[in-house]
Amino acid sequence: MNTPPNRLQPPRVVKWSSDELLCNVRREHVVATPELKEKVRHDLWGDMCAEHDAENLWDHICNKSGLTYSKEFLAAMHEWRIDEQNHYIGLRQICSYMYEVGQDEIDHQLDQRKPDFGPISHFISDEFKICVVLAYDELVSARGYKMFVEEFKQFGPKEYVTWVLNASRDEALHYQNFLDVAKVVHHGTRAAVDEIMRDIVLYETNPEMTYNATFLMDHTEETFERSFLVDCATTVAANFSGL
Ligand SMILES: [Fe+2]
Ligand SMILES: [Fe+2]
Repeated sequence: MNTPPNRLQPPRVVKWSSDELLCNVRREHVVATPELKEKVRHDLWGDMCAEHDAENLWDHICNKSGLTYSKEFLAAMHEWRIDEQNHYIGLRQICSYMYEVGQDEIDHQLDQRKPDFGPISHFISDEFKICVVLAYDELVSARGYKMFVEEFKQFGPKEYVTWVLNASRDEALHYQNFLDVAKVVHHGTRAAVDEIMRDIVLYETNPEMTYNATFLMDHTEETFERSFLVDCATTVAANFSGL
């Protein structure tokens, strides 16, 4: 278990740019087979949508929720937002080249959707809960991208492999940053986190769950096994101690 610092340091961040990393990749460099393209379509497109939808979550949390936040939380959110926008830019190119859709068309399609935070409002009703839910979500993303590396190697461009490794690292840093705020600013307890994790796993493994462009709660059973989500939830809770 990591010991939190007494005072929170600035959020961990590694600056990089999808545009710079991928600027020399051309559509013809993508050599994924039609079978591989179909196999990864749901997950790849879903990841791109979620990265895009970080902006919806940001807007909801910071402009529409009516909540006020600590400066530590806002600092973590600021870096998170920049990273997620960068991830969207990268996946937008990858999906565009894999599925022959223009990047402008992707922007247009995704902007058409309207987020609905109603069904998940109880998960994001205060700063502590938001930190815990985001920590869980980021850990799932970090591990999910890591599991995707072997497929990315078969897409063709070596830059795509670097991209997915960078993204996985960023998600792991987000996980740590939100955990730190939950522990240091809110003195979160294991019992409180256990309860939130139980609710999340129940929510995400409900076959009726739908994803509503909220960034959070996009882990359907089509992509993630229940045991994987439970393991992530357990890992988050294990960072906390006490009642
Ligand atoms: Fe991301
Ligand atoms: Fe993230």
